Amino acid sequence: METLTVDLGDRSYPIFIGGGLLERAELPEPYLGDGRIVVVSNETVAPLYLERVTALFGASFGAAIILPDGEKHKTLDNINRIYDRLLELKCDRKTTLVALGGGVIGDMAGFAAATYQRGIGYIQLPTSLLAQVDSSVGGKTGVNHPRGKNMIGAFYQPRCVLIDTTVLSTLPQREVKAGLAEVLKYGLIDDAEFFAWLAAQSESLLALDPDQLGHAISICCQSKAAIVAKDEKEAGVRALLNLGHTFGHAIETAAGYGNWLHGETVAMGMVMAADLSLRKDWIGASTAAEIRTVLEENYGMPVIPPADIRVEDYLDLMASDKKAERGRIRFILLRAIGQAVLEGNVEPELLEQTLTAGDQLCRNP
Ligand code: NAD
Ligand code: GLY
Repeated sequence: METLTVDLGDRSYPIFIGGGLLERAELPEPYLGDGRIVVVSNETVAPLYLERVTALFGASFGAAIILPDGEKHKTLDNINRIYDRLLELKCDRKTTLVALGGGVIGDMAGFAAATYQRGIGYIQLPTSLLAQVDSSVGGKTGVNHPRGKNMIGAFYQPRCVLIDTTVLSTLPQREVKAGLAEVLKYGLIDDAEFFAWLAAQSESLLALDPDQLGHAISICCQSKAAIVAKDEKEAGVRALLNLGHTFGHAIETAAGYGNWLHGETVAMGMVMAADLSLRKDWIGASTAAEIRTVLEENYGMPVIPPADIRVEDYLDLMASDKKAERGRIRFILLRAIGQAVLEGNVEPELLEQTLTAGDQLCRNP
């Protein structure tokens, strides 16, 4: 087992990573306080792992709230369902919420914890690869709005994150690939060596080789913990974790939540960001082509955005991106593999070329 720390002064917390950790009751125990434990999960994950988690918490386990599965259910209505149940159960401020699921459950349980009775403790038991490498760490919580992804939320850190890598054995392959898109993101942002390693390890990672996957999860969590410790509320460097997300969130919203997986739209968005960087002459044609090849061919990810999203739709949705300032959209672009930058000065004609490039993305313009 490996233990990392998200260093945030008196709100610091551990990330435990390893196989079989859902059997290790002593790990979460110091972070539970002396109140009741209420697990928030969904209809897919609960039948697989709730029994194990009930046993993990023993006599402290109070109840489970099971939500419908899917991105389209990441709504304020479902947050209300959590509040309703907590009130029915007469949960007080000592209650600890436990998020058992992927990023959707983690973000919602975290937001409910941030707001119920002005804030109660929560811990993350992430079960998807995406949640294990990204969303369970760093305290971004919230829900979608019909006009934009993750538009309602709060920064609110968990008390601990327990990553049991063995639960990934039941994750569908499409979800594994979606999680690997966020893994590749860490390489593109600031670790060229990691990106090269990932390019070479696609077969073993897609096959969930425990050693290689454990290594990848650890590198991602180290990177995320370091970035969050420097910039918890995204005033600067944390924005780089949004590589691919400005385009990706617009695609997710325009296509209707749940039609594309979050990680799939991040894959498309990273190829669009590479394409825009190429058009700005910041990276060469061979670098842009390499990025597309690794995602599309080595990992079999979708990289071409749906053709029916119009330029006006992209611009409208991207204008409310959380990085936008005074109506100006800001993008995370690349100066090289492993060197991402935040850029607000994007020529409209180059942006339009990227938005309409389709299958020609990252081909020499
Ligand atoms: P998800 O939560 O929808 O999970 C993916 C699917 O896998 C779901 O159907 C889920 O039920 C299922 N699943 C999860 N674990 C499983 C397991 N072990 N076995 C079988 N099935 C399992 O999606 P996700 O990809 O985990 O997360 C995406 C969400 O995370 C998006 O809403 C995105 O906005 C959010 N996100 C948040 C942050 C953050 O910092 N808070 C970062 C990245 C993404
Ligand atoms: N996934 C982006 C962030 O946590 O900042």
